[in-house]
Amino acid sequence: RGRLLSFRHTPHGIDDTGSYYFEADGGLLIDKGVIQAAGDYATVKAGAPDDVAEIHHRPHLIMPGFIDTHLHFPQMQVIGSYAANLLEWLNTYTFPEECRFVESAHADRIAGHFYDELIRHGTTTAVAYCSVHKASADAYFAEALRRGMCMVGGKVMMDRNAPQGLLDTPQTSYDETRQVIADWHGKGRNHVAITPRFAITSTPAQMEAAGALASEFPDLHIQTHLSENHDEIRYTCELYPEAIDYTDIYARYGLLGRKTLFGHCIHLSDREADAMSEAEAVAVHCPTSNLFLGSGLFPLKKMRARENAVRVAVATDIGGGSSYSMLRTMDEAYKIQQLLGERLNPLESFHLMTRGNAEALSLSQRLGTLEPGKDADLVVLNAAATPAMALKMEVVKALTEELFLLQTMGDDRAIAETYVAGRPAKSTLRQS
Ligand code: GUN
Ligand code: FE
Repeated sequence: RGRLLSFRHTPHGIDDTGSYYFEADGGLLIDKGVIQAAGDYATVKAGAPDDVAEIHHRPHLIMPGFIDTHLHFPQMQVIGSYAANLLEWLNTYTFPEECRFVESAHADRIAGHFYDELIRHGTTTAVAYCSVHKASADAYFAEALRRGMCMVGGKVMMDRNAPQGLLDTPQTSYDETRQVIADWHGKGRNHVAITPRFAITSTPAQMEAAGALASEFPDLHIQTHLSENHDEIRYTCELYPEAIDYTDIYARYGLLGRKTLFGHCIHLSDREADAMSEAEAVAVHCPTSNLFLGSGLFPLKKMRARENAVRVAVATDIGGGSSYSMLRTMDEAYKIQQLLGERLNPLESFHLMTRGNAEALSLSQRLGTLEPGKDADLVVLNAAATPAMALKMEVVKALTEELFLLQTMGDDRAIAETYVAGRPAKSTLRQS
C-alpha cells in the first residue's frame, strides 16, 4: 500500500497529466514475482486473498524499479579516477583495473558489491559491460540469477589498443561470446548482449565477428560506445578510413539496428543521427560521465524533437559516471539541458528512468510500469528522506514538485525499499 506512479506510452517525452497513472491511496497485489492487480487500495484489497500479507509504504511513492541502460561492472574501483579526458582515463586507470577480472575470485567479490549498490539505489535492471574475460560474465550472470534480477550484459570483445591482459582475438571473442550465450542467455531473467567495446579496441576482423554474432542471434542486444569525445572520434575515423563517419563503421559491420545501445552519442552529425533514427538504434545518455570526463553536452531534447527522432535512454556509465543513483543521474541530465537552453521536466525524467528505458531495451512487455502482468520490480521513494529534503517537502504541493525534489536532492537515502520480483531486496541486503 502506498502512492502509485507509473507512466503511459508516450514516445516523444511527456508534459501533461494524461501521460501518467497516479493513485493517491493505491495497492499492488503481487504473486509469484508478478503484479496481479494495481489500483486504489480498497478495490485491490477487496479482490485479494484473505490471508494476503500487507506491506505499508504510505506516504511513500511506489514506482517501477529504475533501469540503468549502460554501466561497467568491472569499474566499481575506477569511479573518481583523476584524468583529463576519456582516452587518458581508459589507459591510465580503467584498463589496468579491468585486467584484475582475469581472476574469478575477484570478479565474484565485485559482483556481490555491484548488485548491492544497484539495489541500494533502486535500480532493478541494468545493462552492463563485463570485462574481456569470460569469468567476469560468469560472475555477473551467476549473481543476477541468485538475486532473481532481470539483467543484460556481455563479455567485452577487444583485440587491440589495450594492454595484453585485456586482449582476446576475433576467434576467441566469437567463441567465448557464443559460450556466454549458451551458458546464460534465458537462464533466470538473464539477457546476453553482444559487446564490442568500441571501434578503437576492435580490429576489422573482430568487428566482422561481432557482426556474425549479430546476424546469428538477431534477438540479442548489442552494446558499444559511439561519439563520446573529439580525440576518440578522430582516432576512430583514422582506423577506419573507408567509413563515412563513426556511426557508419558500426553500420558496415551489421551492428546498427533496433537492439543496439550506443553509449554517449554526444557529437553526432545530422547524417549520423538520421542513420540512428532510421535503424531505430538507441542513443544512451550518460550525464554524470559526460560531465566528469568533460566529454560534452548531449542534446537530449534536440535528439527527441528532431524530424527523424532518435530513440534515447539514460544511464550512469559507472565508472566514467560518478553515481549509481538514477536520481543523481537525471539531476545532471537536467542541468545539461539547462546549459543547452532546453527544459527537461520531472515527469519526462522519471518516465525515462522507468518505462522509457524499458522501451529502449525492448523489454517493456515485462518491465517499466505497474500494470498487471508486469514483473514486480519496484522502487519505493521517500521525498523526505533527509532533514533538508523534509524541510523542502513542507512546501511541496504538487506531484511534479515532489518528483523534482527527489531528482534534485535525492540519492540512495531516498530509496525506502527496492523490490525484486516481489521480494524486498534493499532492507534485506547483507550487512557488510
Ligand atoms: N569507451 C570505450 N570504453 C569505455 C569505457 O569503459 N567508458 C567510457 N565512458 N567510454 C568508453
Ligand atoms: Fe561506458
